[in-house]
Amino acid sequence: MLTQSPLNLFKMAQEKGVALGSFNVFNVEMFQAVVRAAEKKRCPIIIATGEVDIQYFPPEVAMALVDVMVRKSDLPMIMHLDHCTSVELAERCLKDGYSSIMIDGSSLPYEKNVEMTRSVVQMARWFGVPVEGELGVILGTREYFESTRNDVQKAVATDPQVAEDFVKRTGIHTLAPSVGTAHGVYVEKPKINFSILEQIARRTNIPLVIHGGSGIPPEDVRRCIQLGVAKVNVGTDLRRTLVDAVTREGTRPYGEARKIMETAREAIGQVVESWIDILESGKILDEEGDE
Ligand code: 13P
Repeated sequence: MLTQSPLNLFKMAQEKGVALGSFNVFNVEMFQAVVRAAEKKRCPIIIATGEVDIQYFPPEVAMALVDVMVRKSDLPMIMHLDHCTSVELAERCLKDGYSSIMIDGSSLPYEKNVEMTRSVVQMARWFGVPVEGELGVILGTREYFESTRNDVQKAVATDPQVAEDFVKRTGIHTLAPSVGTAHGVYVEKPKINFSILEQIARRTNIPLVIHGGSGIPPEDVRRCIQLGVAKVNVGTDLRRTLVDAVTREGTRPYGEARKIMETAREAIGQVVESWIDILESGKILDEEGDE
């Protein structure tokens, strides 16, 4: 594993007009599928576990898999903590060796969000780890990624002016704004507010992160990248593929349980590969065309 800072990778991605994929995993099969897809496509990748995954798939287990599967790779792979709402968990993951942290104070009053986010940025600095913050309310977050996304009332779009203040005062390195995407299964085509996204990018001048990647049309994803997005989070697509494959294959005899999981892993790998193609992450390490 090349020890590339996530920030350096975002910079390289932005120079090429492409983005990194961040894929939410909670078991060995998903983890393997993501690593294998990155190796096949020869691109850097972000492997994410969310706060909700911690009981089922603790950071120590994720880091043990990093040791076994990732460290020997010649590709940069980032272990990321997603949607962390507690300073204690952020600290635990930093100590365990995570290379990227998201602290999500978006449900807190603004000043509390600033305070918590800034304290995690200060702590993470000791570990040389960048921090992603969230501002505005991205739908589905608190329903934990399985919301239906038609309850537009609850989403709060990020105000570009407040975003500028938030970035200045917290020192975050990347920002997840609320611009019309949501976690879970879209019940209708998401309406991304590109104008707000553009203003946030201009005012904050740091790489932006799109949450709720699953189900966003590829042309909209590309437009987001052109406007300053360097990381796109994808979770539901992997979980849905896992469940569908196990359901489809589940009538096999018990003796073929391994085959069922193998089929699921293959299918997840294909989904990750197609995301890598949409994001064009394969260009990040491509030296052709570099100065
Ligand atoms: P989806 O599950 O909608 O792809 O969103 C993933 C995400 O944003 C994780 O932070």
